[in-house]
Amino acid sequence: MKIFLDTANREMIERWIPTGIIDGVTTNPSLLSKEGKDTRQVLLDICEMVPGDVSIEVVKKDPVDVYKQSKEIAALADNVVVKIPFAFEYLPVIAKLTQEGVRINVTLIFSLLQALMVAKLGVTYISPFIGRLDDIDVNGLDLIHKLVHMVEQYSFASQILAASIRHVMHLHESVLAGVDVATVPPKLLDQLMSHPLTLDGIRKFDDDWKKLGKQELLGAK
Ligand code: G3P
Repeated sequence: MKIFLDTANREMIERWIPTGIIDGVTTNPSLLSKEGKDTRQVLLDICEMVPGDVSIEVVKKDPVDVYKQSKEIAALADNVVVKIPFAFEYLPVIAKLTQEGVRINVTLIFSLLQALMVAKLGVTYISPFIGRLDDIDVNGLDLIHKLVHMVEQYSFASQILAASIRHVMHLHESVLAGVDVATVPPKLLDQLMSHPLTLDGIRKFDDDWKKLGKQELLGAK
């Protein structure tokens, strides 16, 4: 299972990459809007920093422009995945791009049947938004389970990328559902790192070790 960082913040990426647990990054226009005006440089830096896939979303609206912009985004770096929101008018664009070998992440997926359509087109990632479904009183995790089942049932090549993860149980359940990828905000990853029992355990080991009055574990050289 892959873990992506859901951020466009270079400091956050720099902080997490050395941990070795980050397999990629997802960005979107909202995340990029927080990082200043030189978006191209921000994206080039991210692509260089990240060893795995970096999703970059189109901002054009007209299908012809979406196609052109997708090609430009794809040419930025080898690890780029072009993110395109689900829409009926973008299906032919997505079909053409996948046939041309451009890797696509279809975003803003809110139903099983939307996911089915783009799985049929051979996209690399399908991104259901858990938190935003919960926001409207629909169980986002139910959709995750259904999508994992659908992809397995029909042996689609697309990977399910759980997005809009807002809290620990969203991530926990996504893992149990068997998603291929979860994209996680850095703040949430930080929260997951400390566990009171681990901290207590370390304290107890330290106290017991001090009781022995020894300094070196393996004796002095
Ligand atoms: O990966 C998509 C994610 O950034 C959306 O999250 O919390 O804005 O619904 P949220």
